[in-house]
Amino acid sequence: MSRSTRPGVSVELCPDGPLLVRGADVVRDADGIEHATTRPVVAVCTCGMSGRAPWCDGTHKVVPTRPEQRR
Ligand code: FES
Repeated sequence: MSRSTRPGVSVELCPDGPLLVRGADVVRDADGIEHATTRPVVAVCTCGMSGRAPWCDGTHKVVPTRPEQRR
């Protein structure tokens, strides 16, 4: 787990899951597109398989992302 040190915004990495971002007004994706946030906490996809990118849609729970999880 890691957290930012910027006042008012915190980021928490969930093991094998999303980044939980608290207190942000905007999340900028890898293409530079800004996504306004309307919730106090948003879950940002880290697995690249979400159908609602940049937001986590839970797909990481059913699709293994680590090599040792794949069979
Ligand atoms: S981290 Fe949840 S769908 Fe990618």
